[in-house]
Amino acid sequence: MRMADVIRHKRDGGTLEPEAIRKVIAGVTDGSIPDYQASALLMAVFFRGLDDNELVVWTDAMLHSGDVFDMSHLSGAKVDKHSTGGVGDKISIPLAPLVSSCGVRVPMISGRGLGHTGGTLDKLESIPGFRTDLSPARFLEGVRTIGACMVGQTESIVPADKRLYALRDVTGTVESIPLISASILSKKLAEGISGLVLDVKVGSGAFMKTREQATLLARTMVGLGTRSGVRTVAYLTDMNQPIGWAVGNALEIEESIEVLRGAGPADTVELVVTLGGRMLVLGGVSSVQTEGEALIRAAIADGRGLETFRRMVEFQGGDPAVVDNTDLLPRARNQVDVRAGRGGVVQAINCELLGLAAVAMGGGRRRKEDGIDPAVGLRVLVRLGDPVVCGQPLVTLMFNDSRGLSEAEYMVHSAYSIGDQVIEVGQTFIDVIE
Ligand code: URA
Repeated sequence: MRMADVIRHKRDGGTLEPEAIRKVIAGVTDGSIPDYQASALLMAVFFRGLDDNELVVWTDAMLHSGDVFDMSHLSGAKVDKHSTGGVGDKISIPLAPLVSSCGVRVPMISGRGLGHTGGTLDKLESIPGFRTDLSPARFLEGVRTIGACMVGQTESIVPADKRLYALRDVTGTVESIPLISASILSKKLAEGISGLVLDVKVGSGAFMKTREQATLLARTMVGLGTRSGVRTVAYLTDMNQPIGWAVGNALEIEESIEVLRGAGPADTVELVVTLGGRMLVLGGVSSVQTEGEALIRAAIADGRGLETFRRMVEFQGGDPAVVDNTDLLPRARNQVDVRAGRGGVVQAINCELLGLAAVAMGGGRRRKEDGIDPAVGLRVLVRLGDPVVCGQPLVTLMFNDSRGLSEAEYMVHSAYSIGDQVIEVGQTFIDVIE
C-alpha cells in the first residue's frame, strides 16, 4: 500500500493491516514519510480511531522503533509514573527522586510540552546545563547509580514518538485516546519497568474534558500495560485548576524544589505523596498504600528526596547549586498582574486558556521548530472557590517579550469566571482503575 492509500483507507474508516502499521511507523522513524503525510494520517486516526488490534500493533511498532531497555541486571524494582498532561503538572520532577530515595528505581522517559500542557523535559532543561538527551548507556548508568534518571525520546529511544509527538503538538491531533495511549505506553514499555502508575487528568486543563473520556483513556492504557506484563494502575485526577501556583518551565522547577524542601502547596504534595505511595506498593517496598505514603512524606521531611534530586541534576549535567538557590534559574525580566474585573467567588477556571497564555508568551511551541523561553510563565494567585474583590490580582504573568502579552492577558481574564455563589471544590482524586 502506498502512504496515500493508507491515509485514504483510515480516512474512510477502514482497519489498517499490521504490516501497513509497521511500515508507517518505520517510515516515520527513518524520515521517509514526510511530515505532511504523517500529519494527514494522524488526523485520520484522530477522527476514526484505532481498534484494539490496531492499537496494540501501533504501540508495539513505536516501542520497537528504538532501544528497549533491559533493567533486569539492576537490583530492586523499577517503577515509573506518567501523566496524560495538565497545566502546572510538575509532579514527576519531585516524585522520581523521592521514590528512588525510598528504594524503588525510576527510569523515566518523558515528553515535551504538548498543546496547552507543559512537558517534563522542557521543565528540566530550564535548569542550566541539564541534559535530557542522554545515550542509552548513560541513562542506564543514571538508573543504576542515582536510582532515578529522566530523559526524552531521542534517535535511539522511542524515536517514532519523538517525531509523532512533535507533529501532534502543532496539527490539532493531540486529544485522541489511541494516540495518547500509544505515545505514553510506547515510552513506558521501553523502560524495562515492572510497574506503572498513570495519572489521567480530567477537566478544563486536561486533554480529556469529561470523566467518561478519561475513564476510557485510563482503561485503554491499563489494558495495554497489563497485557505487556507491567502492573499498571491509573488514577483519575482533577484538572479543573492548575496544580500548585506555578505554570511555566523554570517556575515549575522552583515549585518542585519547594515540594522537596517540605514547603510545597498542599495539592501538589497530595499528588506526589499518593502517586509516590502507590509506586512504592507496586515496587514491593510497601505492603499497603498508607505505608507507602508515609515513606514518601518521611523522604520529604528528612531531605532524602532533595538530595537525590541534587545528585540527579548533577549527573545529567545540570547546575546542582540551583537546588539551594532557585535564583539561578532563568527569570523573566517583566511581570504584570491580571486583575479581577468584579468581586465575588471564583466559580470556574478554564485551565486550558491558562496553559495557552503561557504558550502565547513563548513558554510553549506553536510550530514544531519553535524554541521556548524557559523563564516565562504564570504565578497563580487565586484558586477555585476563593473569594476575590474587584481589582484583586488573579494571576501574575512573567514574560520577556511583550509580543504575546495582550493575548495572554485576554486569555487569563477569560479563564476566570467570577460569580456570587459559594461553590464546593471537587476532590483531587476522582477514581482508580486497576
Ligand atoms: N503524554 C505523552 O507522553 N503523550 C501524549 O500523547 C500525551 C501526554
